Amino acid sequence: MQYIQVYYISLSGNTTDFLKRVNQYICANYGMELNIVNIKDKVKDGESIYFQATEPYFSFLPAYLEGGNGLDTGFTEILTTPLKEFIAYKENRKLCLGVVGSGNRNFNKQFCLTAYQYADTFGFPVIDEFELRGTNEDVGRIGDKMVAMINDREGVK
Ligand SMILES: Cc1cc2nc3c(=O)[nH]c(=O)nc-3n(C[C@H](O)[C@H](O)[C@H](O)COP(=O)(O)O)c2cc1C
Repeated sequence: MQYIQVYYISLSGNTTDFLKRVNQYICANYGMELNIVNIKDKVKDGESIYFQATEPYFSFLPAYLEGGNGLDTGFTEILTTPLKEFIAYKENRKLCLGVVGSGNRNFNKQFCLTAYQYADTFGFPVIDEFELRGTNEDVGRIGDKMVAMINDREGVK
């Protein structure tokens, strides 16, 4: 079984739920599996978040921004910064193939904004975005993109 590595953060469980469904989808359709690591669990268990990734990975990031009215204020990242610190550590940013953002459309202009901030800071692409737990269409579309990107890297036709 081929594994696709994901380092992500989920605080209220939506992103974890989404990733579990992507895992089922790519297992059923491609015979591949996701290996998902929630950086929040490392923090909770007192484990270091300063370790080096050893293979290319995807990042999944819900937006948590301080205050703001969703229009012209509230651009300061809160709660998800451990993922940022992990990516900033040593060469980790170079192994990140891209980030999938999530959020809630009630936040208007701030929807999924943190993913775009990471893309600017670290120089990798925003691959896609979804709202809350995502739809089954989101699951299939994002799963297909991840597999295609991994296969491209490995020269699979
Ligand atoms: C304090 C707080 C701030 C948030 N800020 C944003 C935001 O700026 N933009 C956005 O799209 N969603 C925002 N959200 C919504 C979350 O990104 C959304 O609920 C997401 O699905 C949470 O993912 P998780 O359950 O995996 O932690 C915010 C939620 C909370 C509780």
